This record gives sequence, structure tokens and C-alpha cells, in this order.
Amino acid sequence: MTEQQKVYPVSDEFAAKAHADKATYEAMYQQSVDDPKGFWGEQAKRLDWFKAPTKIKHTSFDSHNVDIRWFEDGTLNASVNCLDRHLETRGDQPAIIWEGDDPKDDKTLTYRELFDQTCQLANGLKGLGVGKGDVVTLYMPMIPEAAMAMLACARIGAVHSVVFGGFSPDAVAQRVIGAKSKLIITADESVRGGKQVPLKDNVDAALTRDGTEVCENVLVVKRTGGEIDWKDGRDVWYDDIVTQQSTDCPAEEMGAEDPLFILYTSGSTGAPKGLKHTTGGYLLQAAMTHQYVFDYQEGEVYWCTADVGWVTGHSYIVYGPLANGGTTLMFEGVPSYPTHGRMGEIVDKHSVNILYTAPTAVRALMAHGDNVMDSSKRDTLRVLGSVGEPINPQAWEWFHQVIGNGKCPIVDTWWQTETGGIMIAPLPGATDLKPGSATLPFFGVVPALVDNEGNELKGAAEGNLVIQDSWPGQARSIWGDHERFVQTYFSAFKGVYFTGDGCRRDEDGYYWITGRVDDVLNVSGHRMGTAEIESSLVAHEAVAEAAVVGFPHDIKGQGIYIYVTLADGFEESDELKKELTQWVRKDIGPIASPDVIQWAPGLPKTRSGKIMRRILRKIAANECDGLGDTSTLADPSVVDELIEHRANR
Ligand code: PRX
Repeated sequence: MTEQQKVYPVSDEFAAKAHADKATYEAMYQQSVDDPKGFWGEQAKRLDWFKAPTKIKHTSFDSHNVDIRWFEDGTLNASVNCLDRHLETRGDQPAIIWEGDDPKDDKTLTYRELFDQTCQLANGLKGLGVGKGDVVTLYMPMIPEAAMAMLACARIGAVHSVVFGGFSPDAVAQRVIGAKSKLIITADESVRGGKQVPLKDNVDAALTRDGTEVCENVLVVKRTGGEIDWKDGRDVWYDDIVTQQSTDCPAEEMGAEDPLFILYTSGSTGAPKGLKHTTGGYLLQAAMTHQYVFDYQEGEVYWCTADVGWVTGHSYIVYGPLANGGTTLMFEGVPSYPTHGRMGEIVDKHSVNILYTAPTAVRALMAHGDNVMDSSKRDTLRVLGSVGEPINPQAWEWFHQVIGNGKCPIVDTWWQTETGGIMIAPLPGATDLKPGSATLPFFGVVPALVDNEGNELKGAAEGNLVIQDSWPGQARSIWGDHERFVQTYFSAFKGVYFTGDGCRRDEDGYYWITGRVDDVLNVSGHRMGTAEIESSLVAHEAVAEAAVVGFPHDIKGQGIYIYVTLADGFEESDELKKELTQWVRKDIGPIASPDVIQWAPGLPKTRSGKIMRRILRKIAANECDGLGDTSTLADPSVVDELIEHRANR
């Protein structure tokens, strides 16, 4: 039997206690697709509404009129759902367990404490003139204040836009300008793996860029006490505006379709796009998936290792777990610090029951051998989860055997920034597992495979993954550019949402995501547009032209391979390679660091001038025998030259 055919059946014992067994999943799934209005109308009751919705679903994927509305006449507040409603029964229960970068640092916030501090911050934000509909940028370390900032925005109806703390000043500036953000909340420094990252300095640099004048204030959390510059009148200490505030802050009544947040992500072309997520549908999707996919049970400690800067952190560190009254663990550091055993040690220290992480983290640990987890027992673990990229069966097995002691089901969850919540994943009490497959659709999700002409492929097949009908957590638009939203997701194939992913469906109806079919890279689970990296490179004076492709990388999943054509007067050198690497890191962030740079006197282009990336990808992957048809190239000889000097042998 090959690895890919291996099946891990649901244990009867697990199924008996789970939120859903096989029969429940099947019945609920069927109802969710046969009668979406009835199904979601009922499920909406898991949220607390000021006014319960009566209009459940109004959605159109027609490219002439893309219009997505869920629960549109209902009103609610996300922070009330994540905080207030738990106070009576769970006021003293830990809401957030925070584990610092240094293993000696930790703290716990109960629901009562989180509520009080969030309300104080919300009042502080109001004092700074922030109100309903204003956009607040968060550029923060992984500290409880990040979650409080999100919830405080939600409380007063402000829209948060979290920018990953590893991004550059330019990336911050771009997003502040794009969203016309009035306020940035940041910290003096963040700490990761024993090193400081100068967040406030980065914000200072960002705010020197033209167009950032829209930003009136910078609210600064003191995390390290490191030295920072201060601009009077603009910069405000978090403690100064928060500590004195009342813990009473009535929540704003928000329409279900009012925006909750914007989150920028990379596409195949152009600048990153700010996906707009709204309040009711998003929160419902986050809460419901968190409960069912992780089989979250009352009182359990749940740990998602993502950063709040990504959608995974939004839905599965903050909104999902807190809406469910769960205990969510937030980790400031990195799994390799101070030692590679850290992840297991955290599990033991806080008795973690559910661990949700990324294949790249699993592979990085795996590279250190089976004993890497010897410093911990991990016997509290019950469910493991994976997200961000396909998990190769070998890493799945290692995750299962070594981290999970061979006893925890793994939920491989496929979804996207655009989808708001998990879309295709097993339910651990219902779905037999196949390592490497995200398995079956969540309630209400109708996946389909189409060929490049848009014809639907039935049965076992491989093609482009599309979703045929709307689900509540779906992004509603791209902030300020609905047309781009329509073009990006609804124009390639008629009447369906196009995910940008390729996928295979096997004879059991299981889905196996094969990776992006567009020019988006997935490096260590981080999404990056090749066009963004290319435009950064060509801004360097030595670069005449650049082409960026992904190549298979043992740990990162995909690595970044760059072909550079130098401008006249510049010489190839290792120093220049280093300089270009630094350039991209500084321009976009360390996550965009090139793995390989190859000098390319010419790039393979069609006669109409289009770069043939297919060929560049093959060369980068060292698969030079199967280059396919090169007869349409303007100058086929450039290919031989590139093969001869390829850098990845
Ligand atoms: O290619 C898919 C991959 O990550 C992309 C979405 O990236 P992002 O919006 O940053 O969200 C990541 C976290 C939800 C998808 O288009 N992807 C995500 N999860 C999986 C995956 N590929 C395979 N298997 C997964 N479980």
C-alpha cells in the first residue's frame, strides 16, 4: 500500500464523544446544501444578536453583479459575542493563556479580565477620536494586547487591518494608505527567538512615506522598554490612555454586513489586496468551524501557532475560540527557541488539548530527528491540525506519530484569507483520514473541479478548484475596489468562486489540494505574489528584468527562485546577489527572502514578449528534461543558457 492510500479510520471511542459522528456530518451537510437558508438561519442562533436576522442569504456569483449578503437585517457586535456573553458562566475561566518568547514569561487573562481591558482600550480609542467605520492598523507582537485591540475595534465599530509584524515599513505604509487608516497600534519592539524587532521604528519609517498623513496617531504598547523615537502630538503610550479608562463601554450595534476587518493578502498581479470581511457571517463561520473541525470541548486548551497577522490568527486564535468561550493560547515566540523541543514543552506546561500548526513547522522539527520532542510528553493532546499548504504524507505521519504519540486525529484544513474560515477539512469524529488529503467539505461548502475551459469534471478527477455557492464567512469585496474582486475571483469561470488552487478528487470524493495554479507562491505557508517580488527587484538600479518562480523546498514547501537580467554596466557578482537579497528583505520583509538567484542574460519569452514561467519553473525545479514545447519562443537558445547555469542542482 502506498502512503497515499493509507486510511486512518475514526475511532469509535472518539466518535462517541465528538460533536459530530459520521451520520451527523452527513445529515447536516446534506441539509446545508439542500436548504442553505434553513440551515444557516438555525445556526445563526449560536451567536448573540441585538436583532436576530430574518433575511438569511442573498448571494450572487454572477460576474455582472457579484453581491454577497448574509443575515443582512440582523444586528450584533463581535466583541459581545467573544466576551460579554461569557461573563456570567465563564468569567473566571482563562480566555487567553499567553506564553512569552522567553519560557519564563507567561500570563493568563480570564474572560472578566479580557473584557475589562478590552473595554478600557475601546474607551481609549474613542478618546483618540476613533469611531464606527474608521480603519485602525495593527502592527503588533503576539501579545494579548493584539487580541484586545481587535476586539476593542470591533466593540466601537472600527475596522481593524492587521499587518503582519514581519513586514517592512513600506508594506505598512502601503496598507495604511490603501485603507486610509487613522490610527496605528503597535509596540516599541516585538521579541521572537530572543531577538528584538523594531516595530515602532518601522512605523516611524512607514509614516514618512507620501500619503500616510491620513494616520493621525500611533498608539504604542511598551513591550520591551527598548529605546524608540517619539513624536509628540502623534505618539501615545498605550498605558497612558488605557489604564485610567472605565471598564464600561457599551458595544456598538453593528449590521451583520458592516465590515469587521480588512486583511491584505497577495494575488498573482498587482499590489496586495485588502479583503473585506463582515461581522455576522464571518463570526458564525469562525465559531462553528472552530467547534466542529477541532471538536472543541468545553474547558479545553486550544493552541493555534499562527500569527495574528494572518487570517489563521484572526479566525482561530481570536474570533473562533473566543466566540465559543474557549481558552486560546497565544505564543509570542518561535518553535525553535530556546530549543527545538519548545512546542512540546508548551503543550505540557499549559496542558494543551488541541494543537493547530503548519506543515512547514512540522517539517522543520522533523529535520531534527525523532528525538527532538523528547523533552515533553504531550499526553494531553487530543486533536492536531494543519493549515497553510499541502501537508506531504511523510510529514503527516511524523506529526501523527511523534508529536501526537500516534493517538490524535489530524485535521488538514484547507481554506484561504478570502474564505474567512475552514472550507475543506475532516471532522475528527466523523471523517476517516487519508494523510495528505484535506478530505471533505465543511457544512454549506460546495466545491467543484473544472477544466481550464470551465467544464465541470465529475467523479475522480483533477482540475481547478471552484466553489459553487456562497458561505457565510466569505470575503465580500476588496476594500475600495469591488471590480478587482469580481475580476480576481468571478471572471475566470462563470458563476462560481475561483480559489486559485488546483485539486484532485479521488474515488471516495476526498479532496487533495495540489497547490496554486496562478502566480502566487506559498513559502512556509506564507502567501506571496511573484509580481510583488519582481517589482521590488526591478526598482534596484542593477536590475533590468526579473522573473520569480517557486521551486520545491524540503522545509518551506516552496522556495523563491529568482532570475535576474542585469542592466547595462552592472557585473554579475556574489556581492550583488547579497545586495539584491537584502533589498527584497528590506522592501517586503524577511519572508520574501530569495533562496536562489540566477543571472539570466535573457529570459524565455514568446514572440509577443510574454515570459514563459512554465519553463522557468521547470529549470528552477531541476526538471530540465520535460520542458515541453519551446517552439513558440522568440529565442529558444536562452533556455539552453539558463539550463547550463542553473543554480539548483
Ligand atoms: O494554496 C492554498 C494554501 O494556502 C492558500 C491560502 O493562503 P492564505 O490566504 O494565506 O491562507 C492561509 C491559511 C488559511 C490556499 O489558496 N492552503 C491553505 N491551507 C491548505 C492549503 N493548501 C493545501 N492544504 C491546506 N490545508
